[in-house]
Amino acid sequence: MTIIDVINKKRLNMELSREEIEFAVNGYVDGTVLDYQMSSLLMAIVLNGMTTRETIDLTDVMLNSGDRIDLSSIDGIVVDKHSTGGVGDKVTLVLAPLLASLGIKIAKMSGKGLGHTGGTIDKLESIPGFDTKISLDKFIKQVNDINIAIVGQTGNLVPADKKIYALRDVTGTVESIPLIASSVMSKKIASGADIIIIDVKVGSGALMKTLESARELSNMLVKIGEYYKKPTVCIITNMDEPLGYAVGNSLEVIEAINTLKGNGPSDLLEVVITLCSIIIGAVKKISNTEAKELLFKQLNNGEAYKKFEQLVISQGGNLDLLTTSNKVFSIKSDKAGYINKIDALKLGEIAKKIGAGRNTLDDEIDYGVGIVLNKKVGDYVEVNDELLKVYLNEKDISMGEIISCYKIEDERKEPNDLILDIIK
Ligand code: URA
Repeated sequence: MTIIDVINKKRLNMELSREEIEFAVNGYVDGTVLDYQMSSLLMAIVLNGMTTRETIDLTDVMLNSGDRIDLSSIDGIVVDKHSTGGVGDKVTLVLAPLLASLGIKIAKMSGKGLGHTGGTIDKLESIPGFDTKISLDKFIKQVNDINIAIVGQTGNLVPADKKIYALRDVTGTVESIPLIASSVMSKKIASGADIIIIDVKVGSGALMKTLESARELSNMLVKIGEYYKKPTVCIITNMDEPLGYAVGNSLEVIEAINTLKGNGPSDLLEVVITLCSIIIGAVKKISNTEAKELLFKQLNNGEAYKKFEQLVISQGGNLDLLTTSNKVFSIKSDKAGYINKIDALKLGEIAKKIGAGRNTLDDEIDYGVGIVLNKKVGDYVEVNDELLKVYLNEKDISMGEIISCYKIEDERKEPNDLILDIIK
């Protein structure tokens, strides 16, 4: 077998065998398959897709490329949550301590942000001192002691995905259901949790642009979960506008803290409560209504925030030192009307440009910069009402570019629903 045979087979839209997938993936990891050959195969997969069997084999081959984490020494059911990536998506920062405050074990390995979407690790690292690289022993001990630990992806976990994802990122081969599903699930299975819950984002700021493709991805994620006997639930949520008001690392931590104290924006709260009530319902065997009551109680009585503080202190962070950039500009509306659109993708790109995100995994992040919306889709604005604030540091920004993210019209369009489907 040669790699050219494998590429040609997929180019002709034929089903690859397990051996052919192993040959390509393992060869790419050990360097015998070259970047341009793997790019060619990836593009053939983007264009022709993969069957469920091929996608499960691809997941399994990637999973076997590195270590798997053994969480069996953690008492109780361990939950992992993942998002396919959005703008202003600080759900994990709220959901993880909220669930941990109710006794659920959260052993979470999170990623750094890439492109226009942010990453939980960058957000946590905006808290001075917060160590996202604690040892596996400390990680497990911390989950046993306080129910929660969040770390970056360590050493040799799915090295095949690390290498293939970096290549996909620069070869236009990210948007593919089998490639996304195998990338996400190989990491989730390797991370060792018992229950996997995935927030599949759909809309202008997300990888999946249509509800139909988000459903297709969710079905594939659930099937892979079934194969590994790991209950997997996907919720499909709208990402046409940023989630909440803040975009940018420390700004998002501040919004998450407010939400943990019971003062969160309604859209962020809706996603958090929907995800958490599914998990609480499944683990504690209680109804959805009882689960929701319990969750709101934890937000309003300070327990959820206390758990977040415990997490931060345990990993060396100091919330008193959390800062945002002090060069703040207010952007005003140049017309009156209803905000019918705030382009999440464009705003995410702007936030990245001013330093809140990175183009390559080695880029430095400017933690204090970002954007805080003052109005959301569906709101009415007068001329000169503030649309948003921009927090800048070294890089500058064109006001026209920001204004072009908004569609302000005389007639109000009903905003899209936030929770679009739940697939399990
Ligand atoms: N997140 C991942 O981990 N992998 C993808 O391919 C896309 C989003």
